[in-house]
Amino acid sequence: MEYATHKNPFKFGDPVEGEYYLARPGLSKIVHQFLDSKIHVVLLGPRRFGKTSFILDVLRHEEKKGKACLLIDIFNVTSHRDFLQQLLRALRSKQDWGAKLKKWFESAPRLRAKITLEVDPKTGQHSWGVSPDLAPEDVKEAIQDTIVALGEIGARVIIAIDEFQTIAELEDDGWLEATLRTQMQQIKNTSFLFSGSRRSVIHDMLNNASRPFYRSAQLIDFPTLGPEFTDWITKRFDGVGVACERGAIDELRREVQETPNYVQMACFHLVAQGTRTVDKRKIHEVLRTVVKQNAYAYQTLLNSLTQIQQRALRLAANNSEGIYAKDAIAKYEIPSGPTLASAIKALKQKQILDEGTAQGRVVFDDPLFSIWLKTEFPG
Ligand SMILES: Nc1ncnc2c1ncn2[C@@H]1O[C@H](COP(=O)(O)OP(=O)(O)OP(=O)(O)O)[C@@H](O)[C@H]1O
Ligand SMILES: [Mg+2]
Repeated sequence: MEYATHKNPFKFGDPVEGEYYLARPGLSKIVHQFLDSKIHVVLLGPRRFGKTSFILDVLRHEEKKGKACLLIDIFNVTSHRDFLQQLLRALRSKQDWGAKLKKWFESAPRLRAKITLEVDPKTGQHSWGVSPDLAPEDVKEAIQDTIVALGEIGARVIIAIDEFQTIAELEDDGWLEATLRTQMQQIKNTSFLFSGSRRSVIHDMLNNASRPFYRSAQLIDFPTLGPEFTDWITKRFDGVGVACERGAIDELRREVQETPNYVQMACFHLVAQGTRTVDKRKIHEVLRTVVKQNAYAYQTLLNSLTQIQQRALRLAANNSEGIYAKDAIAKYEIPSGPTLASAIKALKQKQILDEGTAQGRVVFDDPLFSIWLKTEFPG
């Protein structure tokens, strides 16, 4: 069949680049301007909105302009040692810095006691490791020395830290947060670009006068893609001979709360199934299929919650706004407004719901979970 010979024009799950990535020129321009003026930037956006893809794109452009750029991912970091490992891992990805890094390393005796460097004599590939049995104080020193050293890797340097709220969540009495802040001030040629998804944690880091990051970076809300995203999707379909209604894609974007990852995911499945025309009915069909694949996980999650919390979730899934309306509360058998409020608060703490943008609105961390709830428990 004809469609089977085409490569799928959609990708999801991992960061995207090249033809799979729709540029965000407006946002890029602002971020480049801040970084050029040495203003540190925090990008705040929901999960799976394209933050990492965007940062990679920014760094590619900055590298072309001659800056030395490094991306550190700290999503799963649970300790200082983990953080150090991720710093070194980021260095490993910069194989073209090999000679510079080796020279730096050889001139840093304090670090040589803590970090190992192996250079493959044939390929010149370098790989880094943390010496075993480092004392906690040594790990801290190694983190400081490594960050200072990064500032020496180029005349202008950009250090991007993805998922940076993790720094605030470490149980270290704020040591890493304070250390990073000090270094942001001291290393004059380096701009920091942070991203994060936990709104309340990041707002507190930047707006609470008693915290080290207080007003030390420009906060930018990561915007949703505009109507150009619908154009882009329909063109991608067109490229493999699939006719697609614009209205269907707009509907898909609404259903998944504007999450580009799930837009691409649904479209990927439509192409993989051999769909030739895409309309709203096909969109709802494919969403049901995708959501069904996660049913077990959703059921497990639901079973871990109290009954009131479960009802609050059904209510939220079926009402995109006005969740505190009297008739809604009664319909879902929730005793009172305050009971609902405390259930919602607990669900936010569990990171199942996110802060909504307006009173009486809640946003699901995973929009597919909301779709599953609506199908299982229609309002
Ligand atoms: N600009 C874009 N153009 C097209 N697709 C995009 C774009 N940004 C994100 N996506 C889609 O979203 C998916 C996830 O992107 P990415 O990993 O960059 O998001 P993220 O916000 O870093 O996610 P996470 O919260 O999981 O870290 C991509 O695989 C792609 O399908
Ligand atoms: Mg990411």
